[in-house]
Amino acid sequence: MSVHSVSVPVITIDGPTASGKGTIAHRVARHLGWQALDSGALYRLTALAAQQQGVDASDEQAVAQVALQLDVAFQADQVLLAGIDVSSLIRQESVGNLASKVAAYAPVRQALLERQRAFRIAPGLVADGRDMGTVVFPDAPLKIFLIADVQSRAERRCKQLKEKGFSANLTGLLEDMRARDARDCSRTNAPLVAAPDAKTVDSSQLSIDETVGQVLDLWSKACQDK
Ligand code: DC
Repeated sequence: MSVHSVSVPVITIDGPTASGKGTIAHRVARHLGWQALDSGALYRLTALAAQQQGVDASDEQAVAQVALQLDVAFQADQVLLAGIDVSSLIRQESVGNLASKVAAYAPVRQALLERQRAFRIAPGLVADGRDMGTVVFPDAPLKIFLIADVQSRAERRCKQLKEKGFSANLTGLLEDMRARDARDCSRTNAPLVAAPDAKTVDSSQLSIDETVGQVLDLWSKACQDK
């Protein structure tokens, strides 16, 4: 376990790509006045930094070094890499696909572990990713496994990309998403699986507000059961 305070509550939200984890995590965190951790951004930043530094993406140790030395700052809605705003760049599908590849490397996951746990500061943290409840914060008092069918997720991602001014193609996104799901779920290191004590929330037919409401209800229940 890490040296970071285990008495600080954490809500973990894990799930497949584009299940809405990030949006839901930020809304829940804002509602509770807590910190939010977008762990996927750290994998995306590692992928982007490796690409920018010309590091061979198949060299696990070299990519892990990049992860260890990441010069990152999260400022309001901006993500800075070595002082440069890369918030939009890291959302590109090419970076996401490379992130999914390097995220399968054990040394990369190890390099990012303490960096993620350092976000656990009072009064609380909402952390989203793939292994938040299983590996990074296994003692979290509430673990959510957020799912949505692949069609809904691809449509959401398509809309998101278009809103950000990127071109997007639904068929291509569906294919990419299926491939990424398969890779994230089947890898040996910290695969995407629900923690045994996670509560599954299916957001396919829910609005953002409804999903946030379900998570907050589950948090109220968890507090009452304590
Ligand atoms: O959540 P996201 O799409 O931004 O994540 C990008 C990639 O990073 C995703 O394909 C898998 C990986 N990832 C991971 O392996 N573990 C996490 N906790 C978060 C993301």
